[in-house]
Amino acid sequence: MKDLYIITGATGGMGEDATRRFKEYGDVLLLDLSEEKLNKLAEELGEGARAMSFDITKKEDIEKVIEVIKEYGSFKALLHFAGVSENMGDPAMVLNINLVGTINLLNALYDYAKEGTVIVNTASMTAHMTPIAPEIEALLPDVLNEESFNKVVEACGGISALSYGWSKIGVMNLSKNDAAKWGEKGARIVSISPGAILTPMVQHEIDNGNAKTIEILIAATPAKRIGYPSDITNMCEYLCSDKASFITGIDILVDGGSTQAMKNYHAAHASNNLRFND
Ligand SMILES: NC(=O)c1ccc[n+]([C@@H]2O[C@H](COP(=O)([O-])OP(=O)(O)OC[C@H]3O[C@@H](n4cnc5c(N)ncnc54)[C@H](O)[C@@H]3O)[C@@H](O)[C@H]2O)c1
Repeated sequence: MKDLYIITGATGGMGEDATRRFKEYGDVLLLDLSEEKLNKLAEELGEGARAMSFDITKKEDIEKVIEVIKEYGSFKALLHFAGVSENMGDPAMVLNINLVGTINLLNALYDYAKEGTVIVNTASMTAHMTPIAPEIEALLPDVLNEESFNKVVEACGGISALSYGWSKIGVMNLSKNDAAKWGEKGARIVSISPGAILTPMVQHEIDNGNAKTIEILIAATPAKRIGYPSDITNMCEYLCSDKASFITGIDILVDGGSTQAMKNYHAAHASNNLRFND
C-alpha cells in the first residue's frame, strides 16, 4: 500500500499546490469545506486522490478522517493548511478554527503516526509579530478547556487580528513543545510561518482594503517579491523528506526575510520597548 499524505485546506491556495506535488509521492487525502471544489480536484488528479468534505471544528469530520487512515494503518504526513484569516470571522471563530481545530486534529491523528511520519502545521509571520501577554500565551495550550478559550477570546477585545496572531502563536508553540511526544513515535512535527503568499486568502485581504499593507510588505521584503504557494510546497517537500530527518520542534519562516526586516525597522523606529515573539 502507498504512503498516505493528508492535506487540510486542500482546495485553498497553499493546499492545492501542495496536493498536486505530493500526489507524486503517494496517495493523497484531500480535506476541505467545499465538496464541489474537492471533487473537481480529486477527479483531475485521478487514482490515489481521495476527497472528503471536512470541517475542522466538527469532531465527527475528524473521526471520518481516522476511518480512512485505518485503511492504511498509519499516515506518512499531515500538511495542515486549513485556516481562516482575521477578516473571515470574529475572534472566537478564528481561534476555534485555527487553534482548537489544530489541537483536536493532532490529538486524533497521534495514534496513527509511524516511524518517519511528519506533521507540518501552518503558523504565520504574524505569529512572530503579534504582541502577547505571558498569561494569555500560557492559556493557549489549554484552549480545549472552555474557560481558557473564553479568557483568550475576551482578552482579544473583539479584535480578530489579535485572535489570528495568538492562534498562530498557539500553533507555533505546540509544534515546538510537542516534538518530544511525537518523537516517541519516531515522528517529527514542525510549523511553517509563511510571509505574504499570493493565495485566495491574500487576494481576499487585497480586495478588502488591505492592498496597501501587502504593497508595503513587499517593499520591505529583502527578497523583493510576494511569496507563491510553490515556495511553501518546496519547504513541505523538504520537511517531509529524509533530508530533514534531524529537523523537528521548530518553526520555519518562509517569508523572503520580511519578518526580520520588519523587526529591524521597528527596533530602529519604536520609541517604546515593544518586543516581538521570537
Ligand atoms: N496566504 C498567506 O499569505 C498566509 C500567510 C501566513 C499564514 N497563512 C496560513 O496558511 C494557511 C493556508 O492559507 P491559504 O493562503 O492557502 O488560504 P486559503 O484561504 O486559500 O486556504 C485555506 C483553506 O482552509 C479551508 N478552511 C477554512 N475553514 C475551514 C474549516 N473550518 N475546516 C476545514 N477547512 C477550512 C478553506 O476552505 C480554504 O480552502 C492558513 O492557515 C493561513 O492562516 C497564509
